[in-house]
Amino acid sequence: MVGARPNYMKIAPLMKELNRQVEFQTRLVHTGQHYSAAMSQLFFDELGLPPPDFYLGVGSGHHGEQTGKIMIEFEKVVLAEKPEYVVVVGDVNSTVACALVAVKQGVKVAHVEAGLRSFDRTMPEEINRVLTDQISDLLFTTEASAERNLAREGIEKGKIHFVGNLMIDALFQHLQKAHQSRIRAKLHLEDGEFCLLTLHRPSNVDDERPLRTILFALNEIQKRLRIVFPTHPRTQKNLEQLGLAKILREMPNLLVTEALGYLDFIHLLAHAKFVLTDSGGIQEETTALNIPCLTLRENTERPITVEQGTNQIVGSDAEKIVKEAERIINGNFKTGRRPELWDGHAARRIIEVFLKTV
Ligand code: UD1
Repeated sequence: MVGARPNYMKIAPLMKELNRQVEFQTRLVHTGQHYSAAMSQLFFDELGLPPPDFYLGVGSGHHGEQTGKIMIEFEKVVLAEKPEYVVVVGDVNSTVACALVAVKQGVKVAHVEAGLRSFDRTMPEEINRVLTDQISDLLFTTEASAERNLAREGIEKGKIHFVGNLMIDALFQHLQKAHQSRIRAKLHLEDGEFCLLTLHRPSNVDDERPLRTILFALNEIQKRLRIVFPTHPRTQKNLEQLGLAKILREMPNLLVTEALGYLDFIHLLAHAKFVLTDSGGIQEETTALNIPCLTLRENTERPITVEQGTNQIVGSDAEKIVKEAERIINGNFKTGRRPELWDGHAARRIIEVFLKTV
């Protein structure tokens, strides 16, 4: 199952590996939670994902509405296909919706990226994570904290498998191709001479106050270093609605672009001086590539990126954001190391577990 942008790069390496084995028959379901070309089709093309066998066309909506629609449509697929396993990835609404349908139809659920916890239940993803893990039969984890969290929530140890990080499989598989991207030349950016920014978390972009604070910090940072900001549709919409898009446009050294494809984005990430983000996966990609990352959130469900990697939590305190950005620009930031099993072979380990279990 895939539904939203951060799902595609996790499913792609797994599909590739599953389809190499005669033991498995796969069907790819796309819920359509993300549907714009830049949030969906482009990623299928670049990641070499086959067209989905089922496209549910659910689209945007309030949480209950979106989750409910996915369940109604996905149940029809489960009833028709009678799979042995439903594999869900990540923490989006599509993840919990499909897991819930499967388990109620007596179909086993495998959750990739299980056990991550921000301990912040105002985050919609945290609810999706906790619920999905409770009803999963196989839980594939990316870091040690996940296993501890699952144990605390009473999940049987035998169901949990530490396999590494599928997103890093995809990253390593596509890095060479990404290096050939022309995006940096197109945007006139020198290697290591810019900061890459992404912003889409509701807690940052749905209300005026946090957005204004971040804009204040960005204004300071762009005085020292060029900022490139590919915008998520949610952020683009809110900036316009809250009348803040003008402030961004007036920053001379900040460049706003449309949402980018996978290869262009990875290219920019690999060549950035540092990354400012509120995303989950980007905290991991920067750690894997040893690029400094400042996370514009109060917490992270991926603590290993802070403990071992290049990530630092800066929250929404403008002063702190600017101070840490300056530390990086002045060359005083920590270096990290790549976490255990983030080696590009997570898909193979997942297959080994399936072969033993199924
Ligand atoms: C979703 C996930 C989030 C993930 C993010 C990555 C949930 C609860 N949230 O948030 O965990 O980090 O995806 O991108 O599942 N829109 C488009 N085109 C699209 C999709 C969305 O224009 O293809 C616009 C719509 O106006 C929509 C808004 O973006 O209302 C938000 O989309 P939605 O899927 O509700 O949540 P995301 O913010 O994308």
